[in-house]
Amino acid sequence: MANSASSDAFVEFDRVQKSYDGEVLVVKDLNLQMPKGEFLTMLGPSGSGKTTCLMMLAGFETATHGEIRLDGREINNIPPHKRGIGMVFQNYALFPHMTIGENLSFPLEVRGLGKSEREAKIKRALDMVEMGAFINRRPAQLSGGQQQRIALSRALVFEPELVLMDEPLGALDKQLREKMQFEITHLAHNLGITTVYVTHDQTEALTMSDRVAVFDDGRIQQLAPPDELYEQPQNSFVAQFIGENNTLEGVVKEIKGGIALVQLDDGELIDCKPINVSQPGERTRVSIRPERVEFNKDRLKEGAHTLKAEVLEFIYMGDIFRTRLRVAGNDEFVVKTRNAPDQVRLKPGTQIEIGWLPEDCRALDA
Ligand SMILES: Nc1ncnc2c1ncn2[C@@H]1O[C@H](COP(=O)(O)OP(=O)(O)O)[C@@H](O)[C@H]1O
Ligand SMILES: [Mg+2]
Repeated sequence: MANSASSDAFVEFDRVQKSYDGEVLVVKDLNLQMPKGEFLTMLGPSGSGKTTCLMMLAGFETATHGEIRLDGREINNIPPHKRGIGMVFQNYALFPHMTIGENLSFPLEVRGLGKSEREAKIKRALDMVEMGAFINRRPAQLSGGQQQRIALSRALVFEPELVLMDEPLGALDKQLREKMQFEITHLAHNLGITTVYVTHDQTEALTMSDRVAVFDDGRIQQLAPPDELYEQPQNSFVAQFIGENNTLEGVVKEIKGGIALVQLDDGELIDCKPINVSQPGERTRVSIRPERVEFNKDRLKEGAHTLKAEVLEFIYMGDIFRTRLRVAGNDEFVVKTRNAPDQVRLKPGTQIEIGWLPEDCRALDA
């Protein structure tokens, strides 16, 4: 790749910062490298800086500091329409007075393509999203899902190497959203397009992406494939934001042999995996996933620390059972078990003991 300074990344943010008002940084020291063909999602709460990053990559906003590179070239000073990037937004942004065919023709005309070439590409792009029959309709004559398919097809019609999508499915109902999630990922992978996708919906991020960048407060808190993000959160924010999570608070007593002994605030002791705690005396938030909690003593290791728990609520959910417990003063401690023939249904009011493998219990920042 030409001129690549430090890597062979296709998309690269190098120490990028952004301030709109010259005072507050809404993007703080962003470093990100994406290989060609990757589907990467920026996930985070509203206001965490996701759209700003996408707009800088597209060229509609400039970085206050740092460099953005595409295929090894710095693009800070290249105007949006010369970056070869397709974009899809939540509100479709189709031209209402034009037919679907004319909407798709527009990005091709801007790029100077002749009529017959345009027609071939439009047909192909509409067939990709199974909307070929709608070429002469206007946007208002289509449903929301159909309009979003057209917006997608318009972003792909000039065969961009990079496509940016900002909450593109936010306006659709749940069923259609899930169908479109699969369509988009299949299309992106089949065409070998590099995609940056923005959402605040963690399920969407986990199911669609090769890697997810979790944003909070203008920073990437963790960048990892979905399974790693869920199973190995690197800090409390990520543990809380991704999936359901149980939290217990306490103080690190000792760290030895890769295990942290933590004294919970009610005095009980548990073994954890030290993630971002480093010494005795530090406060910590311990994180355990609901499906990793064990209350069948036979399945716990000899000598494992257990905690007393009281069953508060049992919820039958069909495929799983969701049981709420009081553990170490926390009334919101949840256990999820699979609805198997031999599975115990815990009754409210029962006193039980729970435990887990130390590696499933992560000692994170307080
Ligand atoms: N054009 C703008 N002018 C001033 N502030 C902005 C502008 N766009 C976004 N912001 C601010 O920047 C921060 C990040 O916003 P944004 O990137 O839109 O976050 P997200 O997409 O994660 O919701 C927010 O505090 C927002 O209010
Ligand atoms: Mg946004």
